[in-house]
Amino acid sequence: MRKRPVPSNDAAVRNRYAELGVEVYYREEGSDYNNPHFPQIRQLLLNNRHRIDFSHSLDFCCGSGEVSKVVLEMGFPLPSASDPFTAEAYGRNFDAECLPWSFDDVIRGKAEGRFSSVICSFAMHLCPEKKLFPLTRQLLSMAPQLVVVTPHKRPDLSKLEGVQLDFEDAWRTERGKSVFLKSYSLR
Ligand SMILES: C[S@@+](CC[C@H](N)C(=O)[O-])C[C@H]1O[C@@H](n2cnc3c(N)ncnc32)[C@H](O)[C@@H]1O
Repeated sequence: MRKRPVPSNDAAVRNRYAELGVEVYYREEGSDYNNPHFPQIRQLLLNNRHRIDFSHSLDFCCGSGEVSKVVLEMGFPLPSASDPFTAEAYGRNFDAECLPWSFDDVIRGKAEGRFSSVICSFAMHLCPEKKLFPLTRQLLSMAPQLVVVTPHKRPDLSKLEGVQLDFEDAWRTERGKSVFLKSYSLR
């Protein structure tokens, strides 16, 4: 069966999420994944390089390794990476393992390791609201710093008990939409 073209703008992706559900969407399309907002992700990571500990980071929900590319470009070690659906896309860019951790795996304690920071770009808003608290607490038990890059104001993790926002930044797309970077730790 011929695959449908991968949607190239935010509205088309949202339509596909609504049609299929997020997980089925990435199961079907994840091997072709790349992010048209890479320039904003890159700029935000470069701008905040002195406030993020990239020495042993985890690129959580890594897609095709958008965050990892920038971390390497800045001269830091290749982050560990995880994503349940995009190992093929990640493997085209890096000769390294993509761990298959889902939100639920992390919540259930199946993800192991200690990291200097967990960086989750364009994915934390995909986690159902009721799972955000256990996911965030679990990620912050794996690293002292959780950095979320998001095209939305949500999720606001500082509303969660025991979690604090340490700093934030924003960068605009050519169309004037903001992409946000927020860094959290345990209070
Ligand atoms: C919009 S992409 C972001 C990828 C990359 N981090 C970036 O900045 O471009 C969202 C990612 O979340 C992953 N994802 C979707 N559902 C997930 C789940 N339940 N658990 C973990 N990751 C999930 C997808 O496979 C996809 O790679």
